Amino acid sequence: MIGRLNHVAIVVPDLEAAAKTYRQTLGATVSAAEDLPEHGVTTVFVELPNTKIELLHPLDDSSPIAKFLQKNPDGGLHHLCYEVDDIIAARDRLVAEGARVLGDGEPKNGAHNKPVLFLHPKDFVGTLLELEQV
Ligand code: CO
Repeated sequence: MIGRLNHVAIVVPDLEAAAKTYRQTLGATVSAAEDLPEHGVTTVFVELPNTKIELLHPLDDSSPIAKFLQKNPDGGLHHLCYEVDDIIAARDRLVAEGARVLGDGEPKNGAHNKPVLFLHPKDFVGTLLELEQV
């Protein structure tokens, strides 16, 4: 059911510094920062030949990412995003399998303006998963 790895997301304490590390030190192509108020985050995408890295920073203190940074002040791996063809069919199959969808269970628009859902890390070997319909 899942397709390509769309991106790996890393929470960072300093978005500008992290973008600079990827652009200058690692020599990658790095996007401009974009605020996603619906998700409480600011994102920067690093374009790699085979996938992307999403750098995540809290938009404000109420962001779910703010709590993550309190626990992990240096930042760290946050989630993996897999592509699916049909996010509603994927969700219904996962729920039937006993997996928990975060939030109200309905897809929201993600960073690429495509529908996304998040799945509980306890159901997926300790890793928060994002599904993105492509
Ligand atoms: Co993501």
